[in-house]
Amino acid sequence: MAGAHLANLADGIYGAELDRRIGEATAAIASALAAQPALAQPRLAAVLGSGLGGVVELLDPAPRLTLAYRDIPHVPGATVEGHAGVLVAGSVRGTPMIILSGRAHPYEGYSHREATILLRAVLALGVETLVVTNAAGGLNPDFEPGDVMLIADHVNHSGDNPLYGPNLDRFGPRFPPMTDAYDPILRAAAREAALASGDPLREGVYVMLSGPSYETRAEMRMLRTIGGDAVGMSTAHEVIVARHAGVRVLGFSLITNKATEDVEAGATHEEVIEMGRIGAKRLIALMGELLPRLA
Ligand code: HPA
Repeated sequence: MAGAHLANLADGIYGAELDRRIGEATAAIASALAAQPALAQPRLAAVLGSGLGGVVELLDPAPRLTLAYRDIPHVPGATVEGHAGVLVAGSVRGTPMIILSGRAHPYEGYSHREATILLRAVLALGVETLVVTNAAGGLNPDFEPGDVMLIADHVNHSGDNPLYGPNLDRFGPRFPPMTDAYDPILRAAAREAALASGDPLREGVYVMLSGPSYETRAEMRMLRTIGGDAVGMSTAHEVIVARHAGVRVLGFSLITNKATEDVEAGATHEEVIEMGRIGAKRLIALMGELLPRLA
């Protein structure tokens, strides 16, 4: 195809090949779910970022079904510490849901297309609502480690887009709108859930960079100037494929560290994991209030 020389398509995973991989991944998940008919048609899905695996405990105790990413064809493994790499199917007050515990990150070397194969495969099962979560640095000087931020909008500053290459028409249009990508009605529900859980909820704009290096002070200043409240290395590509497919989206960032230009020392992965554990309790409490409202 014209443009196949572009570095962004160099992995060869685009067009019919991408479609085939998503289709085979969907078929493998569907056949595993067939063992539990009550879970076969998930309406809700969630992607869990670093340290948030505990959200799985919010599912009804039974029925549940677990599938390792390595057992789903064409799905890149989740290799980062704090990321489990399992798909858990279950229900929330009887509404079938799929939780993706762990994600492949573009900084591991995957194109946005390859990194979203699993999510697109899951959404193709008929999911209507997606909740995305991540760990992020706080660009907004008012944010503290341990805060939870409702994502109001994003800036995809990562240099890639999961929709590069021929459009897969069975999912959505060539030029999907991204206005109000984070559903205003779901955000209102999230604010109500936060009131009920008793924990404060921040709200702001998430900026996705490719990583894996953390930001320089000059980059933090730039990202704040362009309107960012939090910065991380995931999520925007997932939200783009979900909105392309017409799925409603809600997102949360766990602020694990300050990312302001006057910060004393930069973030470390250990700090991100440690603060993630602390903030995760709050986010899990909030999700406990929220999921039944979405179900
Ligand atoms: N920058 C980018 N990604 C991150 C950060 C950060 O400060 N913290 C957690 N993920």
